[in-house]
Amino acid sequence: MNIAVIGTGYVGLVTGAGLAETGNNVICVDIDTVKIDRLKEGIIPIYEPGLEEMVRFNTKEGRLGFTTQYDEAVAKSQVIFLALATPQGDDGSADLSQVRIASEWIAKLITEPKVIVNKSTVPVGTADMVRDIFQKVTKVPVEVVSNPEFLKEGSAVQDFMKPDRIVIGASNQEAIDTMRDLYEPFVRTGNPIYIMDERSAELTKYAANAMLALRITFMNEIANICDRVGADVDKVRKGIGSDGRIGPQFLFPGVGFGGSCFPKDVSAIIKTAEENGYDFKTLRSVQEVNKKQKQIIVEKVLGHYGGNVKGKTFALWGLSFKPKTDDVRDAPSIDIIKALTSLGAKVHANDPVATPSMMHILPETDMLRYFRRNLRALENADALIVVTEWNEFRNPDFKLVASLLNDKVVFDGRNIFDPERIKEFGLTYYGIGRR
Ligand SMILES: NC(=O)c1ccc[n+]([C@@H]2O[C@H](COP(=O)([O-])OP(=O)(O)OC[C@H]3O[C@@H](n4cnc5c(N)ncnc54)[C@H](O)[C@@H]3O)[C@@H](O)[C@H]2O)c1
Repeated sequence: MNIAVIGTGYVGLVTGAGLAETGNNVICVDIDTVKIDRLKEGIIPIYEPGLEEMVRFNTKEGRLGFTTQYDEAVAKSQVIFLALATPQGDDGSADLSQVRIASEWIAKLITEPKVIVNKSTVPVGTADMVRDIFQKVTKVPVEVVSNPEFLKEGSAVQDFMKPDRIVIGASNQEAIDTMRDLYEPFVRTGNPIYIMDERSAELTKYAANAMLALRITFMNEIANICDRVGADVDKVRKGIGSDGRIGPQFLFPGVGFGGSCFPKDVSAIIKTAEENGYDFKTLRSVQEVNKKQKQIIVEKVLGHYGGNVKGKTFALWGLSFKPKTDDVRDAPSIDIIKALTSLGAKVHANDPVATPSMMHILPETDMLRYFRRNLRALENADALIVVTEWNEFRNPDFKLVASLLNDKVVFDGRNIFDPERIKEFGLTYYGIGRR
């Protein structure tokens, strides 16, 4: 099949490469000329394990191309995917301007019937909105499909190639058949393709992300109670995770959730509820608790230092909102760095891949310095704070860590270290909900 993917970000690039991998001809479109020029040269703009190989292979095979020209992409393709950003607007709702603009541009160019597939996370009713845009601009028949994406950054390629399920919201049988043909190679092991109406598909994505945010938040609160009553959240986690009704995933407490999806999606579904006369109380609490949780490490730091960290220096390991990605959008590290530096402390930051993205948000200053090596960040630092659970942070040379840190304190925001082992090296340990 000939396919266009509009928007070549985390989702668009993986979608384009994944669809090319199964034999389709895919052209990826973006308005970012620098990004497209680099992709044409085989330079991948994001860090995502396995993506570079897949992009290069399919480009070499002639099945994957990149352009900034809508006309070329639209003319060539039967199916057009929209993989545009839907960030949080000022009022908390999803900002649909990219989806709107792209739809208008496509509508002006089409001369024959197309299937328009929305992969962005969008509020209920967006498929209708996109349909209206097309109907206002052109008489050419267009089918609009909602096909939310569930990939996770850090394992996006694997998630796309072997999805747990595919959700397709569509009302036209021909469009449904086209989508089935397209996705059949990805579900050969029997994982389901769920066909539903567009509104249910749109809400499914928000419900999934909101449920995961709720689960993380619930565990963060259990951890906060553990801290107060002398219980150990690791033991509680295992104790409940082995219950088949609960399951072991997404039960790890930490410094609050961040990233480009959960915060904005929780906010958008609250807004949708509000617009429809419903107060989504649990999710409003999730937002409130998560905001506080992002300061939990700072509170522990202040607790240790008697409320004053002026002149102290903290090594901070992990900038991305989670491991194996360079995405720092809404990452807890941003809040922690801002809080510490505003209290007069210095930060020595390190991340295996996310430093360049973070430098766009928080440039280097006297108070914030970036280090290429995590152990170098410990030099002249007083304490270590772990913010992201990258694998390479899990087993450092603790003897060296202890010898480098002036105050010999570790604040482990992801519970990656064994407190007993750490104490053997004379380090004081603070985790999240651990004794
Ligand atoms: N990132 C994830 O892990 C993830 C997972 C599932 C779903 N989603 C959803 O997928 C959507 C895309 O997310 P993302 O993280 O890939 O976003 P992104 O910001 O990485 O990518 C969006 C791309 O669209 C381009 N763009 C903007 N306007 C354009 C236009 N008019 N025409 C063509 N290109 C244009 C931008 O330059 C950018 O490259 C969002 O709705 C998001 O919620 C994201």
